[in-house]
Amino acid sequence: METCEELRAAPIDTHLVGSRVLVYDEVSSTSDKAFELPGDGLVVVADRQTRGRGRRGRPWHSPPGLGLWLSAGFDGPPAGLLFAGALAVRDAARPWAALDVKWPNDLVFMGRKVCGLLLEQRGARCVLGIGINVRQQPADFPPELRDRATSLETAGGRPCDRGALMRAVLTALDRRVMVLREDGPGPMLREWVLAAGIQHRRVRAGSLEGEVRSVDESGALLVETGAGLKPVLTNSIVWLDEE
Ligand code: BTN
Repeated sequence: METCEELRAAPIDTHLVGSRVLVYDEVSSTSDKAFELPGDGLVVVADRQTRGRGRRGRPWHSPPGLGLWLSAGFDGPPAGLLFAGALAVRDAARPWAALDVKWPNDLVFMGRKVCGLLLEQRGARCVLGIGINVRQQPADFPPELRDRATSLETAGGRPCDRGALMRAVLTALDRRVMVLREDGPGPMLREWVLAAGIQHRRVRAGSLEGEVRSVDESGALLVETGAGLKPVLTNSIVWLDEE
């Protein structure tokens, strides 16, 4: 079967997210397509991306047949979407593997990254990009990622149909986005903080040191330093309780 057919299979029954799903064999980035095309809740999924991107402008390795690369476009506010996305993927992936939520915005299995999320905003539109490693064996990852990344199938030890995973992710995301629009980002943010287990952890970022209290809506750590609560959103942090 064409690898992409797996993604085209059955329709989903959601309110908003995935009310329209566009499936491509190849795009530069599903997030770019979701910015170009209109529709609140529009989902773009592709078998491969030629210029998939991650946080901080890093490339996102998106080979054909091996991952779930999708983006959802929204006309509503971005607040809370990153948390909703991470919790939705964690819940949707549970039949295959028990993933952990990891700050700043990853899902990991035994510390190895399975999924990354990217929230971008252009004008009134925001796009949540979700990249899930589904089928990769260690040799499928570039050498520099091999000891830091894994896939759902490697983690769980059983096959994963990307169409079934996509439907589970979109269904879970739809439910969470409806809750976000109803209740605002506060409850989702608190659930994410609990899931990530970051509260009261000690952290150092440059000259700043203190205890994590929470995160703000952008996902920055809110660190109690003794001189007030400071936001920290950088990759170069040290967890002092791991030293
Ligand atoms: C990260 O961990 O750095 C975020 C990775 C986000 C990757 C996904 S794959 C689908 C969507 N399209 C992109 O170009 N990026 C996101």
